[in-house]
Amino acid sequence: MKGIFPIEKFDEVRTPFYYYDTELLRRTLKRVCNEAAKYDRFELHYAVKANANPKVLTIISESGMGADCVSGGEIRAALKAGFPGSKIVFAGVGKADWEINLALDSDIFCFNVESVPELEVINQLAAAKGKTANVMLRINPDVDAHTHANITTGLAENKFGIAMDDMDKVVDRAIALSNVRFLGLHFHIGSQITDMRDFVALCNRVNDLQDRLEARGIRMEHINVGGGLGIDYQCPNKLPIPEFESYFATYSENLRLRPHQTLHFEPGRSITGQCGSLISRVLYVKEGTNKKFVILDAGMTDLIRPALYKAYHRIENLSSGDPLRWYDVVGPICESSDVFGKTVNMNITRRGDLVAIRSAGAYGEVMASGYNCRELPKGYLSEEFI
Ligand code: LLP
Repeated sequence: MKGIFPIEKFDEVRTPFYYYDTELLRRTLKRVCNEAAKYDRFELHYAVKANANPKVLTIISESGMGADCVSGGEIRAALKAGFPGSKIVFAGVGKADWEINLALDSDIFCFNVESVPELEVINQLAAAKGKTANVMLRINPDVDAHTHANITTGLAENKFGIAMDDMDKVVDRAIALSNVRFLGLHFHIGSQITDMRDFVALCNRVNDLQDRLEARGIRMEHINVGGGLGIDYQCPNKLPIPEFESYFATYSENLRLRPHQTLHFEPGRSITGQCGSLISRVLYVKEGTNKKFVILDAGMTDLIRPALYKAYHRIENLSSGDPLRWYDVVGPICESSDVFGKTVNMNITRRGDLVAIRSAGAYGEVMASGYNCRELPKGYLSEEFI
């Protein structure tokens, strides 16, 4: 055992693999559900895109949360894991007809609609089935979430959602269509947000837009503010469960929810991020001219975040307690961006050592690819090693 990892059992499985600490996952779920339950009408939908491992999804569905899906595949995965259709929301800028039909057949709670043409297609497909689809309109609030450019979604120049200037027109269209029911507005400003002031900015925007609709006699039953709460990648052990308390308090204090309204959240990273690590074995330690390279059997195909976003993940040697040295930790893929960390301070490292790349439970396994004909990494729950 080193830290939270039962490393003596890790020889039984092939590396690289994802390891999920289910005790932490369950504690995180309990905390987020308890914190949300302190408020009337706060509802949670887990963002399946963060981690769709069937075993992880099943544990999350057991918490009673709903699911936020962005594809037909995610809807199927959510239903299979036990999420009821009535708690599924379906977002995405490009929903295909078969995906809309699947969602209609599954009687999902609501479509988060991103454009007028999409609204018309949902209306048409719902009419063909003699159904009425619940819709919320995703508005691009033009709020800057101070996060990585590739994961900010709420700025005006972004492809997501309907521009604020078009809101009234699109709401009127939704109300006029006979096979959709307008429930309210949906927002999402970005991901890995750690400064609550960004969420306050979103609340202020939602308040303005709600006032604007009410001035025209339009009331909403529901508001959805998306996900985005960040985690501590630097020190995963310090605060393994994100500060849900202040997150929900921020919304409660700043968003002027009307008494009859339900506020929906779509947390992803904050639920699964800290419970997952990518476990890898050291293939070689190579002495360069000025550097030492640790070459792992895991690569960017298994965890793409460092290559794609220059994201930081803490890297720990699980097999060595020897003094610290500086290393560049890289993967085996034929791409120079296949680097997990430069000048990483790790215990003296040797061939065969096990390494944990931490905070990889969100946007890790689910973004893996088979590039270089590599096998996809498997995911194991901690209880599978007992
Ligand atoms: N709702 C919507 C509409 C979203 O687009 C997202 C994430 C979420 C909820 C969940 O956000 P979270 O609570 O996880 O921040 N692959 C990137 C992250 C992309 C996030 C996309 N949207 C990464 O590895 O950082």
